Amino acid sequence: CGIVGYIGQNDSKDVLLNGLEKLEYRGYDSAGIAVLNNNGVQLTKVKGRIATLREKVDQTVYATMGIGHTRWATHGIPSEDNAHPHQSTSGRFTLVHNGVIENYIDLKKEYLQDVNFVSETDTEVIVQLLEKLYEQYNDTAEAFRQAMNLLKGSYAIAMIDAEDSDTLYVAKNKSPLLVGLGDGFNVVASDAMATLRETDQYLEIYDQEIVLVNRNFVEVQKLNGKVVDRKPYTAQIDAGDIEKGTYPHFMLKEIDEQPIVMRKIIKEYQDEHNELKLDANIRQAMKAADRIYIIAAGTSYHAGLVGKEFMEKLAKIPVEVHVASEFSYNMPLLSERPLFVFISQSGETADSRSVLVKIKEMGHPALTITNVPGSTLSREADYTLHLYAGPEIAVASTKAYTAQIAVLAILAVDTAKVKGLELDFDPMQELGIVANAMDVLTGQKEELEQLTRDYLATTRNAFFIGRSADYNVALEGALKLKEISYIQAEGFAGGELKHGTIALIEEGTPVIALATQANVNYSIRGNVQEVVARGANAMIISMKGLEQDDDAFVLPPVHELLTPLVSVVPLQLLAYYAALHRGCDVDKPRNLAKSVTVE
Ligand code: G6P
Repeated sequence: CGIVGYIGQNDSKDVLLNGLEKLEYRGYDSAGIAVLNNNGVQLTKVKGRIATLREKVDQTVYATMGIGHTRWATHGIPSEDNAHPHQSTSGRFTLVHNGVIENYIDLKKEYLQDVNFVSETDTEVIVQLLEKLYEQYNDTAEAFRQAMNLLKGSYAIAMIDAEDSDTLYVAKNKSPLLVGLGDGFNVVASDAMATLRETDQYLEIYDQEIVLVNRNFVEVQKLNGKVVDRKPYTAQIDAGDIEKGTYPHFMLKEIDEQPIVMRKIIKEYQDEHNELKLDANIRQAMKAADRIYIIAAGTSYHAGLVGKEFMEKLAKIPVEVHVASEFSYNMPLLSERPLFVFISQSGETADSRSVLVKIKEMGHPALTITNVPGSTLSREADYTLHLYAGPEIAVASTKAYTAQIAVLAILAVDTAKVKGLELDFDPMQELGIVANAMDVLTGQKEELEQLTRDYLATTRNAFFIGRSADYNVALEGALKLKEISYIQAEGFAGGELKHGTIALIEEGTPVIALATQANVNYSIRGNVQEVVARGANAMIISMKGLEQDDDAFVLPPVHELLTPLVSVVPLQLLAYYAALHRGCDVDKPRNLAKSVTVE
C-alpha cells in the first residue's frame, strides 16, 4: 500500500493524487484521499485505480492539507468501505495506514466493544482506538502516542484531526515512511518517489517514532514523547527516471534498459585500474563466512538461485537459497559462521525484513543487495551492494533481476579473488559481452511477438523446462508469464516433468525449453521429445553453438555461467506480448503489488 500526505500553502489535491499515482506500484485495488478545510474533512474513496479516484474527487474543494492512500488488500476485500482513509465514528479523526496490526482483534475486544465498525479492516481499529483515547486524554498528540503504544505489528500512519488544521500526525513501525521538507510546506510519503516533484529533502523516520508535521516545522518523537533531532538527506532519484517517455509500458522500457544497466554495473564495480571495486568490509565478511544464506522473495529469489551457482562454482562457498517467508518461521540449522545475503529490488519486502530482524537478533552479519540503497533492508543490514538499475516501476521485475544476477557474479568473482582462487573468468569482459547480446535480443521484438502468437495466443497453460542453469531461468520465465498474462505457467526441471507433471501435457500444450548448457543439451532435448510425443507444442530456445535446425529462437553466445542474463530476455518479452495480446494491464497486473510491505 502507499501513503502520501501534504500540509502547506496550496491546494493539496494534486500533490496527493499525483503522489498516489507514483505509489500505485505498491497496490492499486482501492484508493482514497481526505482533505481538511473550513468545511471539515472531505473524504473521497473508490474501489479501483487512482484514475478513478481522480474522476471522483470534487475539483471545487480547496484544502491546504490532506492524506491519501492506495491499497493492496490484506484484511477485507477491495471495496469502497475498506478503502482508506478511515474515520472514527464522530468523524473527528481520519487516517491512512500501511501494514498489519497484529493485535487488532484484542484491541477491539478490550477497548472498542461498543463501537460500530463500518469496514473489515484492522486500520479502522486504530482510528476508533484513537477516538476512545482522546475521550480519556483530551489531547490529540497524547491520544495518538497512547494509541501507537498499544499497537502491535507494522504500521505507517498519517492522520488528520478535524479540529486541528496545522498538524499531520504521523507514525511508523516496520512499514516504510518518510517526511519530505519544503519551504512553507511539508509532505509525507511511503516512498520518496511519490513526492519528488515537491522536494528532494527527506527525513528518515525510524521504527516506533511519531512525527508531528506542521507547515513550517516537523517534530520527530519517540513513542515515549522524547523529541529527537534528525537531519534531512537528499533523495538521489532523478524524477525523469520514473516517467515512461515514449514507451507504451514501463515493463517494455525496463526490458530495453537491461544492456544499459549491465554497462552501468560494470562501470560502478570497477576502479580506475579496471580492478573490481568492493567495500573492504564486504570482502572481509564474504571471506569469513563458512556458508551463505540467500534470502529473498519472488523474482529476487530466482536471482538468488542463479547467484548460488556463481558462489559455489567460482568462490567455492556453500550457499543455501531460501524463500524469505518460509525461512522466517522455519529456520534450518545454521552453519557456524553464516553470512546472510538479502536480495530485494525494493529493499522493503516485509517477509525478507522479518528474517533480517531475526538473524540480527541472533548476531549474524547481513548484506543487502538492492536497487534502493536508503531502503529498510539496506539500512538495517551491515552492508549494502547497489544494483544501479534505476527505478523499476512495472510490477513484473525485469531489469532488477538481471542486475541482481550481474552483481552476484561480481561478488562471487571478487570473493574468489579475495580467497586467492585462480579463475579463468573476467566478469567485466563477460558482462560486456552480455550487454551486447542483450542489445541484439531487445532488437528482436517482432520475432518474439510472432512466437507469442504461435505458442501462447489462446493457451490456458504453459510449461517452461530447463536443466541446471536453465532450470533457474525456467522458474523465472514461468513467473513472468503468469504474473502478467494470467496464463497458468510452471517452471520445471527438464528431467522431473516425467515424474508427475507430464500428466498435464495435452494436444497443443506449449512447452518452452531452454537449451544453453552444453552438458545437458542432449538430455533437455530428450525431455522435449517426451512432451512432443504426448502432443506438446514445444519451443526450444537455445544458445548459439548448441542450436539445432528446428529451434525456435537462438540466443547470441555468452559465457556459459552467464546464460541466465540472456535467456531470460526472450522470456520477458514473450510474457510481455502474451499479456498485451490478452488485453491485460501489463504494468499493474491484478492482485499484485510491486513492493509487499506486509508479511
Ligand atoms: C513482490 C513483487 C515481485 C517481487 C517480490 C520481491 O511480490 O510483485 O515482483 O519479485 O515482491 O520484491 P523485492 O523488492 O524484495 O525484490
